[in-house]
Amino acid sequence: MRISLFLILVSAFGGVSGVVTGEVKVMSVMEGDSVTLNTCVRDIQKDSNIVWTYGPENDVLAKLNKGSQTSINEDVLDEMFRGRLKLDPQTGSLSIKNIRTGHSGLYTAEITSSKEGTSKRVFNVNVTGVFDPEADKLKSVWKNEGEPVTLNTGVTVKRDDLILWKFGQSSKHCVYDAVHNIPAIAKLYGETRETSLDAGEDQIFSGCLSLNEQTGDLTIRNTQTKHAGCYFLQINSNTGTRFRRFNVTVSARTEPAPRTHWEVTGPVFLVAAIMLGVIVMGLLSKKRVFKHCRKYKDSETTTQESLDVLNPSS
Ligand SMILES: *[C@@H]1O[C@H](CO)[C@@H](O)[C@H](O)[C@H]1NC(C)=O
Ligand SMILES: *[C@@H]1O[C@H](CO)[C@@H](O)[C@H](O)[C@H]1NC(C)=O
Repeated sequence: MRISLFLILVSAFGGVSGVVTGEVKVMSVMEGDSVTLNTCVRDIQKDSNIVWTYGPENDVLAKLNKGSQTSINEDVLDEMFRGRLKLDPQTGSLSIKNIRTGHSGLYTAEITSSKEGTSKRVFNVNVTGVFDPEADKLKSVWKNEGEPVTLNTGVTVKRDDLILWKFGQSSKHCVYDAVHNIPAIAKLYGETRETSLDAGEDQIFSGCLSLNEQTGDLTIRNTQTKHAGCYFLQINSNTGTRFRRFNVTVSARTEPAPRTHWEVTGPVFLVAAIMLGVIVMGLLSKKRVFKHCRKYKDSETTTQESLDVLNPSS
């Protein structure tokens, strides 16, 4: 306890002694990607503290206190990290979603624990700009149970492309940072046109997926309510990685309800009402046609054509 207090004090007052500085990990990512800066700590000790800082001024982005309490500080640097940061309380890893070129720079995690002292992990994140506004959009798809659904990539697959489809059952948050941790349900290798399909967790896609070899479009034949959720498309090509998101909603087929008295007698009334309407309309329109005929006869300009229009049955 005394040692850990000492170490906290040392780090708090900027002391460098006892701080093990690891090598700098260089990460090259594309704009729009989600990035996880991994502390490589399996299980955070109960007494560990982690402080994530960014940039030349070492602005504090996130903290993990006593191995459980996390706090995110998104107000720094004109809120340029607003809505983008996530701190994993298990590992202390920091995720930045939908990264932009402006987020390039040095990220440092300072990890303090009573057993291992203080150590640092430094990441040099280099974001290459190919901002893809489509990646921000979330396409909504609605289907009824039993119908097929095809999710389009909008591309023609090239030789160097790798197409990945991933699925997350919760449609509340279709965020990319979750996508790195889930296995793909469908893959297409551009070079060999080899596809691989996976039935997913609990085999929910068993026997109902297919992948178009030219476009990478994913089809779910016979959609069930269990297929509702977020579908993430990742297109890796030699010009970078692109992402697309689809929010698929599947409406359950409703069982026909037992017929009520009105539902049985209703159609009879309806048919009677329609027939009455038809008769009345017929009488009225006949009257009008005759009136027109009289008018045309009177003016003696009636042609065969206009007569045909007036009496289509003839
Ligand atoms: C970032 O990556 C680009 C493209 O790979 C490279 O040209 C550039 O030199 C890198 N910059 C830094 C600071 O590493
Ligand atoms: C996905 O669609 C469902 C149903 O319309 C909606 O409740 C849910 O909030 C949507 N998810 C996102 C992330 O927009």
